[in-house]
Amino acid sequence: MAYLPNKIVLFALQILALFIASFSIPGICGRAVVEAHKQREFDYFLLALQWSGTVCQRTHHCCSSNACCRGSNAPTGFTIHGLWPDYNDGTWPACCTHSDFDIKEISTLRNTLEKYWPSLSCSSASTCHGGKGLFWAHEWEKHGTCSFPVVRDEYEYFLTTLNVYFKYNVTAVLAEAGYLPSNSEKYPLGGIISAIQNAFHSTPLLVCSHGAIEELRLCFHKDFKPRDCVIGSSIEVDGLSSKSSCPIYVSLPAHVSLGPENGESPVPVATSK
Ligand SMILES: *[C@@H]1O[C@H](CO)[C@@H](O)[C@H](O)[C@H]1NC(C)=O
Repeated sequence: MAYLPNKIVLFALQILALFIASFSIPGICGRAVVEAHKQREFDYFLLALQWSGTVCQRTHHCCSSNACCRGSNAPTGFTIHGLWPDYNDGTWPACCTHSDFDIKEISTLRNTLEKYWPSLSCSSASTCHGGKGLFWAHEWEKHGTCSFPVVRDEYEYFLTTLNVYFKYNVTAVLAEAGYLPSNSEKYPLGGIISAIQNAFHSTPLLVCSHGAIEELRLCFHKDFKPRDCVIGSSIEVDGLSSKSSCPIYVSLPAHVSLGPENGESPVPVATSK
């Protein structure tokens, strides 16, 4: 991305600042330094996308925080689950710093996030230090705080994720290959994987629930160039991971309207969480 060289300079400055701070005022800054380096730096990014038609099938009672309940404005296709820093060995760092989520920091992104990174559930999410919070709080505290040094603050985490999501439009790639939301069709998993490979020159990971695609995960090097999600022997020749939870034929359920339009409780009623 165009702003990367700038980032490298900023990162160098930040390291220098932390280095100086850790010697000069250890009582104040020593703790932050230790936390930031407790878990080693991640190897690559995974962009987890959720297929709203599948996840929304789990909504049986509506609430204002669940985008599945927005009636005809409910999301369709893939929405963002999160951008997750991962290690090549299949593990990942989590909850890397004590940087609590602050909704004010992303106020300018709020509308865009509501549309493309909505919560598809009525439950509140766990945050890193024993609390409960917004879906966004969970993603930032658990994963975002581990994306240092590529992403260094909350605003940058959400903006970067949105940019990657806009650039790699999986919903559009699948639609162009004929894989459209449907409550009756089944599609070959291999065909879906090939469509992504042809478009982005990298192999995604798929997660299914009861034969329906629930998540599609795209992987990126730290400079956001696409890479395969699984490297090495755990991937088979045809691109199907042996650990895939998906059958050979999968569905991409269309959204079934929930909320005011089909007689469910009007949105503001069930919000006492
Ligand atoms: C992705 O493509 C779909 C289908 O062409 C379109 O409706 C949607 O707005 C696009 N999403 C983004 C985030 O650009």
